[in-house]
Amino acid sequence: MILKSFTIPCLGLLGLVLWSCGSENSTQNERNTDSTTTKTQNTEVMTDVHTFAQPQEAAMTHLDLDIAVDFKTKKIKGKATLTIDNKTGTETLFLDSKALKIEKVTLGEEESPAEFKVAPSFESMGEQLSIQIKPDSKLVNIYYETSPEAEALQWLNPQQTAGKEHPYLFTQSQAILARSWVPCQDSPGIRFTYTAKVTVPKELMAVMSAENPTEKNEKGVYAFKMPQPIPAYLLALAVGNFEFAKVGDRVGVYAEPSELAAAQKEFADVPKMLTAAEELYGPYAWGQYDLIVLPPSFPFGGMENPRITFATPTIIAGDRSLTSLVAHELAHSWSGNLVTNATWDDFWLNEGFTVYFERRIMEAIEGKEYADMLAYLGYQDLESELESMGKDNEDTRLKISLKGRNPDDGVTSIAYEKGYFFLRMIENEIGRAKMDTFLRNYFEKYAFKSMNTERFLAHLKETLPETDKLNLKEWIYEPGLPANCPKIEPTRFTEVDKTLKTWTEGKAAAALNTKNWSSHEWLYFIRKLPKKLSQEKLKELDEAFGFTDSGNSEVLAAWFVPAIENGYAPADAAIEKFLVKVGRRKFLIPIYTALLASEDGKAKAKTIYQKARPNYHFVAVNTLDGMMK
Ligand code: BES
Ligand code: ZN
Repeated sequence: MILKSFTIPCLGLLGLVLWSCGSENSTQNERNTDSTTTKTQNTEVMTDVHTFAQPQEAAMTHLDLDIAVDFKTKKIKGKATLTIDNKTGTETLFLDSKALKIEKVTLGEEESPAEFKVAPSFESMGEQLSIQIKPDSKLVNIYYETSPEAEALQWLNPQQTAGKEHPYLFTQSQAILARSWVPCQDSPGIRFTYTAKVTVPKELMAVMSAENPTEKNEKGVYAFKMPQPIPAYLLALAVGNFEFAKVGDRVGVYAEPSELAAAQKEFADVPKMLTAAEELYGPYAWGQYDLIVLPPSFPFGGMENPRITFATPTIIAGDRSLTSLVAHELAHSWSGNLVTNATWDDFWLNEGFTVYFERRIMEAIEGKEYADMLAYLGYQDLESELESMGKDNEDTRLKISLKGRNPDDGVTSIAYEKGYFFLRMIENEIGRAKMDTFLRNYFEKYAFKSMNTERFLAHLKETLPETDKLNLKEWIYEPGLPANCPKIEPTRFTEVDKTLKTWTEGKAAAALNTKNWSSHEWLYFIRKLPKKLSQEKLKELDEAFGFTDSGNSEVLAAWFVPAIENGYAPADAAIEKFLVKVGRRKFLIPIYTALLASEDGKAKAKTIYQKARPNYHFVAVNTLDGMMK
């Protein structure tokens, strides 16, 4: 029901995120004409173009959810109570909403009715929800339900789970999908604490990015509390038939019963990672660190939901070879969750720092050679991303402009790997000791705050003036890769090169010395195979190394590319099986791209996609629909 309408500002007036910077000077970016930073007196204002919120007027500081999860209607229904800080005495509160059905809005504990209006949907941003409040309003109660198409939510039927008996629901809120399941101020620059009461079918359990239960209860009613302020993109919920197992004092894992033991084993090194991370960059701020192994349709490798990383089951390789992904999500507990990108244009601050931190954790645990293999594979990703995007593409700058676009467009290897090499370049120049002190202080100083590129540069200049000569502006505001990008030559890959050469020169695959290879060496080997391979050669490799039947998802996904490009039919069934089961976007894109490159493959891709699409999460479908056109 929409009550009497009232005036709302035009859509062009998007959110501003207020952030006080005291008396320090802010560096304005001269080249970036689409500046997202303006200064008013002593207050730096960071504009987030992907929110309708106006937090400089009224900002949410706490969220209390009382919701029920209904698998029959595929809806979440309930009440969201927002505590607000009305800074200017405004009479309109602006929130983000996407395909939500808002039933009623009331103010205060007394629940006096409030007028509200839902504007027409605007691009990927969804709808502006404006609520009439009083200058002294503190609590706003929103009664709502989600749409069955809510983009953050994936509702799985029992067939799509490991146990095949119970349905499953998980959320994916990053970047701007939280608004499709909770009406809120969905901007990375706006932080709030939260509490929640979630009612689920009795046989299922629920976890959130909060303090979590470790056991099911009879009623199916779970209470949650997140006492530290987080941005909306870190709101998360999973509901399913999973159980908890302890991995260490502060570490645990949730998985479906049939997968729990394997997950517990795979993650045995995580407590070591946590200690290594703390030794590097300071105390872990979130109490417990758990992981939940989701069904295979989860569209990412991992998502750094605070206190509980959401992970794809494809990292359970049986030999702990893919756990750098856990190091990555764990590292986000500092870079991203503590110091948060102020806007999605600054996404590299989240991901580039996290990749750097991830590799430092892996180095601490596995040694420098190991970490350098990871870095080199990252360099290859960066090279091929630059190649496919084009070196002059504006989106190959670290600071990008996503105005008028979906923030998902900014999720490329540039943020991750160019960001990583930028930090590694600084480390090379100033030395590790200074780098580590710098990072430790950075995380401490800006904990629970937002950071944008300009503020970061100002902080760098202030604390490490010697970095001024390092082409920082070129790295950040120019496309392509600057000449001072560090080069890495992992010795273990040099060995792989030699081994591969003997094979291309005629030595039998079965006679190659690959005994101590990790999955990283295998990945490198597969990536370096000659472009054109005969059926005999592919068969020889496959028979010697069992690629098509590999239990390692990274190896499998990498192998499918040359298999497709060279029309290796014995892999067809495995490719189809993989594409139908796994929804991890990073794997799907290269495989479908390889298929789409030939007429024959195109037909195959279309048939498989038709079958697989219902298994994929919205974020994967959104990308793949575009590719299939
Ligand atoms: N936060 C990201 C996932 C993400 C990014 C979701 C942008 C939505 C929008 C997560 O930390 C991540 O980077 N995952 C990677 C892991 C990898 C780099 C180790 C992934 O899923 O592949
Ligand atoms: Zn990440």
